[in-house]
Amino acid sequence: MGKLPLFPEQASTIAPEVDHLTYFLLAVAIFFTVLIFLSIFYFAIRYRRRSDRELPQVQHGGMALEVLWSVIPFGITMVMFGWGASVYFKGSRPPDDAMPLYAVGKQWMWKIEHMEGQREINELHVPLGRAVKLTMTSEDVIHSFYVPAFRVKQDVVPGRYSTLWFQPTKAGKYHLFCAEFCGTRHSGMIGWIHVMEPEDYENWLSGGAGAGTLAQTGEKLFTDLACSNCHKADGTGRCPSLVGLFGKQVQLAGGNKVTADEAYIRESILQPAAKVVAGYQPVMPTFQGLVTEDGVLQLVEYIKALGAKTDDKNRPSAAPAPKH
Ligand code: CUA
Repeated sequence: MGKLPLFPEQASTIAPEVDHLTYFLLAVAIFFTVLIFLSIFYFAIRYRRRSDRELPQVQHGGMALEVLWSVIPFGITMVMFGWGASVYFKGSRPPDDAMPLYAVGKQWMWKIEHMEGQREINELHVPLGRAVKLTMTSEDVIHSFYVPAFRVKQDVVPGRYSTLWFQPTKAGKYHLFCAEFCGTRHSGMIGWIHVMEPEDYENWLSGGAGAGTLAQTGEKLFTDLACSNCHKADGTGRCPSLVGLFGKQVQLAGGNKVTADEAYIRESILQPAAKVVAGYQPVMPTFQGLVTEDGVLQLVEYIKALGAKTDDKNRPSAAPAPKH
């Protein structure tokens, strides 16, 4: 406190990098602004018209100057481009070992779901020093997940998944904002990110839940919605087996192939006719309006768990055994 907070706190691994780039851009802008202003004044005085009859000497050419003022700005802009692209790529590619979390934006709140089953509204608890990857979607309009202290911002768009990642470097409490005007109470769509020491985080994790992991909630939903009647684990149902599906290539009826990722599974639940698996009839009804975005995420997590390798400890114990 006491000083003017021009920049928010730096609390993630990417924050200093974003700031250094910003400082560089600012420095370049200030340098040239000052240079141009000083030159204007200098030339205005140095080459002022001294008498009514005075005619300036005409200058032709000036190759050296032309080359200089083309090459130098080109070099500077290429540095901006290269540097900016590298920070951008780093910021958009989550590390492989990032802790997955889900977020759903909704007028006017943030709903967060942890893999272990904890759910939070307008709050997000994460451990210090661990990369976190958020998979996000919206139930209504476009929102934007924005944490200034982490220098991350990502639009949250209805009908698709977007991702955002960060690795906190300081324990504490940081503002979460919605950075996309989304209706009358947009300004109230705010919350807190709690970065906790790992042991505090473990305590916090063990305190909540009760309802089971996300995949277990998904499995219950899978049964409640009667998905299991057609999607039989052994492949004898009217619809394809979902065991081992996640991440695989799927052969579609039209001859195309698609990777079974989160977006494909979501689409197949809400618009089953959009991509029909080769060899199957388009008999599945849409679940649009019957299942919320949270529910879709739970189903996705369940289907992911069905595909997990057997040595994965996250595999749900209740994965349907093939019937014989
Ligand atoms: Cu949500 Cu603004």
